Amino acid sequence: MERLERESDFLWHREERAATRAEVIAGAQGRDALICTILDRVDAELLDACGGLKVVANFGVGFNNIDVAAATARKIPVTNTPGVLTDATADITFALLLAVARRLGEGERLIRAQKWGGWEPLQLLGADVSGATLSIIGFGRIGQAVARRAEAFGMRVIYWNRSALDKSVVPVATAVSFEDVLRQSDFVSLHVAYNSETHHLLDERQFALMKPNAFVINTTRGPVINEAALVRALQTKQIAGAGLDVFEREPQLAPGLAELENVVLAPHLGSATIGTRTKMGMIAVDNLMAVCAALRPPNCVNPEVLG
Ligand code: DGY
Repeated sequence: MERLERESDFLWHREERAATRAEVIAGAQGRDALICTILDRVDAELLDACGGLKVVANFGVGFNNIDVAAATARKIPVTNTPGVLTDATADITFALLLAVARRLGEGERLIRAQKWGGWEPLQLLGADVSGATLSIIGFGRIGQAVARRAEAFGMRVIYWNRSALDKSVVPVATAVSFEDVLRQSDFVSLHVAYNSETHHLLDERQFALMKPNAFVINTTRGPVINEAALVRALQTKQIAGAGLDVFEREPQLAPGLAELENVVLAPHLGSATIGTRTKMGMIAVDNLMAVCAALRPPNCVNPEVLG
């Protein structure tokens, strides 16, 4: 913010709530650059309504909120913030995995409701993490960081990735088919980017392939899972539980999800550390400033427009 204030004619949405679409358009009209969050839908209509944007800098690594094809057609570079949130997101993946396996949400609710009567031999018995099989769906930066954490927890790690990867990337992890990651795992963690190909990647059919003791962890984007189908799979105990940081229609949850005991829910906190969000902001500004200075932005997702 300080840098933008120093180096540009800068307007920002100061309220502790997401800007409405009308506010984004009004604020960005006639300006050179827009920094948007992952909540702002930047599409052809918005780009045309703003008129004259030279760059759209997303404050986030995922950019499914932006119609990149529409930006490319208008020769507008779109940038994102990769790399700096890898560890924070891998950490929250593990936080959810441990919390749901060891029933921390249920335990916390028990204590807060003042219903805990003391230690019992069979109280809230959870699933073993050490020795369990973790499947990672999408083995990019974040998936690999999760695999390294899993190794330290003594887990067996298998993964599925769209393209083949060199074994040396994370030697502890073995590539298997998509069906095998579902069939073999005790924990399935999602790390694919969200797009039309990964929409509802986990749906009724995939839950049916999973073991009844399997847990699903999602820290990527909500619509990678058919949330209504997940609720049914959890209600019928087709799978054992879920740890979710993202939801199909944030901030709304699918009916029935919040009532389930066997889920741990977080409000999209993957990158929410002071260090990570600060670095994301700095990168967004670096990207934006580079385009405005007619330089190559470090993280352009549609580099073809740069010429
Ligand atoms: C991202 O950057 O895509 C995260 O979901 C939010 O930080």
